[in-house]
Amino acid sequence: MRGRILVVDDERAIGIAIQRLLGARGHEVDAVHSGKEALARLAEHAYHLVITDLSLQDVSGMDVLRWVREHAPETAVVMITAFGSEKIAVEAMKLGAADYIPKPFDNDELELVVERLLEGMEVRRCLRLLQEQVAGAYRFGSLIGKSPGMQRVFDVIRKVADTDLTVLIRGPSGTGKELVANALHYNGPRRTKPLVKVNCAAFSRELVESELFGHEKGAFTGAVTAREGKFEIADGGTLFLDEIGDMRLETQAKILRVLQERELERVGGNRTLKVDVRVLAATNQDLEAKVQAGSFREDLYYRLNVVSIVLPALRERTEDLPLLIEHALAAAAARLKREPKPLAADAYRALCAHEWKGNVRELEHALEQAVALASGPEIALGDLPASVRDLSSDGAADPSGSFREAKQRAIERFERLFIHEALVRHHGNISKAAEDMGMYRQHLQLKLAEYGIDAAAYRER
Ligand SMILES: Nc1ncnc2c1ncn2[C@@H]1O[C@H](COP(=O)(O)OP(=O)(O)OP(=O)(O)O)[C@@H](O)[C@H]1O
Ligand SMILES: [Mg+2]
Repeated sequence: MRGRILVVDDERAIGIAIQRLLGARGHEVDAVHSGKEALARLAEHAYHLVITDLSLQDVSGMDVLRWVREHAPETAVVMITAFGSEKIAVEAMKLGAADYIPKPFDNDELELVVERLLEGMEVRRCLRLLQEQVAGAYRFGSLIGKSPGMQRVFDVIRKVADTDLTVLIRGPSGTGKELVANALHYNGPRRTKPLVKVNCAAFSRELVESELFGHEKGAFTGAVTAREGKFEIADGGTLFLDEIGDMRLETQAKILRVLQERELERVGGNRTLKVDVRVLAATNQDLEAKVQAGSFREDLYYRLNVVSIVLPALRERTEDLPLLIEHALAAAAARLKREPKPLAADAYRALCAHEWKGNVRELEHALEQAVALASGPEIALGDLPASVRDLSSDGAADPSGSFREAKQRAIERFERLFIHEALVRHHGNISKAAEDMGMYRQHLQLKLAEYGIDAAAYRER
């Protein structure tokens, strides 16, 4: 990162030497020779870094430091201290100096300090940006829905987001349970702390417990080092237990204890650890039936079900379809770096008529495929997956035009789909996709050019 740096030293030679040195490294460096001048400059310009001598004539280095801490807290201050003044240096650090360099110093030392500080600033800036973007993306903005069912969901989220209540999020697959967990976390007071997600169905029982509660060294074969669990990692934040319906009874008992006592032990350990974690859980299973059958603990069920949010299936809220279609089309076009195209009327009708057993996720996949395949000015019915298209109006069976044309269209559509899927599987790697399809790489490249498919768009997914 190129830094804007102010150097303050009443020994002109030193000030100029530092200015030259850091200037040669590509930084923008101003040098002044008194504390007074420094304050005047600081009031007018924003600097990343101030490097100041501690003992100046009028206004001291400490005064410069105090001014910066108060008026420009983003600016880092480095003190140059005379030999033997460690005590004051320590005091400066306490007052918020980022570092100090004892005189005499060599160039490498100074450069190292400057680079380290600027790098830290860059990282913090990126993180802040990322945090803002993530928080922005997860506001209700990314949970879309105007149907009464979704409006009720939003109401509950609004009411409980800023509490520590445990929430059980239910609904069929692909209805947005994870988005609800995000919305609860990012709209609550824990938003700046971690949101940690665990898929309880993805591991064996032993692994789930070590994943959740951590383990001590030697707890089981393979536990060569101690490891903290997701509860510890989420401390201060939120833990999202996804697919909780698949959790074993033994693990359920341990979760219940954490919910009740807010404490846990690592696997193979006997230290009791306190944790401050909000728990959200999700399932698409019939937990009541599981309780009846004895495969889900009733006490845990009540404990989790303090507040429950039930997401309706997409079929039950068709008034949300237009919004979701528009959103998913724009998102797919952006992801695949394509011009957004309108939907042909028959394609739109087919989307509205489809059953959407896979809910919003299925809709997103269907539209992503359509955007990837569309070659005309509109997204045509034929660009949609066969499962969504109504067979009777399948473009291949289009009665207009000759048999030869219809066959050509069908082949083209098949090829596009085939290539699209191979590129998805191989993340845009053309050689691998070609090998997978039993094609020569050069041949695939010709096809990509012919169909205007950009393999690079499949890479960063
Ligand atoms: N209301 C909604 N608005 C916008 N996008 C949504 C909505 N609901 C779901 N989605 C999108 O659908 C996809 C599936 O959502 P999500 O992963 O939250 O579902 P889920 O209920 O957790 O599914 P599963 O039970 O399969 O884990 C995601 O890409 C999500 O962005
Ligand atoms: Mg999910």
